[in-house]
Amino acid sequence: MIETIKQTADYIKSRVDFTPEVGIILGTGLGGLVEKIEIAHSLPYSEIPDFPVSTVEGHAGRLIFGTLGGKKVVAMQGRFHYYEGYAPNQVVFPVRVMKMLGIEALFVSNASGGINSSFRVGDLMVITDHINLIPNVLIGTNCPELGPRFPDMSEPYSKKLEALATEVAAERGIKLQYGCYVGTTGPTFETPKEYGYFKAIGGDAVGMSTTPEVIAARHMGLPVFGISIITNAAFSGQKSTHEEVQEEGAKAEKRMSALITAMLERM
Ligand code: HPA
Repeated sequence: MIETIKQTADYIKSRVDFTPEVGIILGTGLGGLVEKIEIAHSLPYSEIPDFPVSTVEGHAGRLIFGTLGGKKVVAMQGRFHYYEGYAPNQVVFPVRVMKMLGIEALFVSNASGGINSSFRVGDLMVITDHINLIPNVLIGTNCPELGPRFPDMSEPYSKKLEALATEVAAERGIKLQYGCYVGTTGPTFETPKEYGYFKAIGGDAVGMSTTPEVIAARHMGLPVFGISIITNAAFSGQKSTHEEVQEEGAKAEKRMSALITAMLERM
């Protein structure tokens, strides 16, 4: 596995002369952050050996190298979900490749259903912890070159980056919520009782991504910042649709982009 990761990273280095400092995963409807990046290179996933190819509507599928907030970033426009049928190793393959390319921190974004009844549709939630209900991506032979067999998860999301988000959001008048993200396999949205269950176990929002990538990142010791756009009020008992998720994601995107850009400027 490590050989394939290295080969892919070497291939990318042969195509792109650029050492990124921060990796960014853009979730559903959040691809527009790309417009703020001063793009130096862009590589479609289909041109990268061993890279999975995204199948979901709203996920373009390319790796973007450029400058954002004065930092050199690599952004994944389009991510891979467990529900698409990828093996767990494939879902996190790009995160491992980005680490080999040199990133020192990972920013992840997603769309989620709000379980905390004080949240409103369109809110931005800083992910402070997660409950992973997707089969763990580290199951199987451990690769010591990536990280330890039993990785610590006491600080899944960097407290330092969370504090930075709070600081820049206050300066810019961006309202933030904080909470625990429950990662499920999907692709079904939750039943009313499932939403109730996730609330009972301590969840504030639920979505179908992110926890695999965060686990892979923490395994490699990368600090993570996670942000979620609350796209539907999961607790309300109303129907949830992919269209609603995309629309609300697009609306909140400006605030999310402003927050991430300002954070990068300060790092
Ligand atoms: N459930 C699961 N995933 C989601 C939701 C939801 O309500 N909203 C956006 N992604």
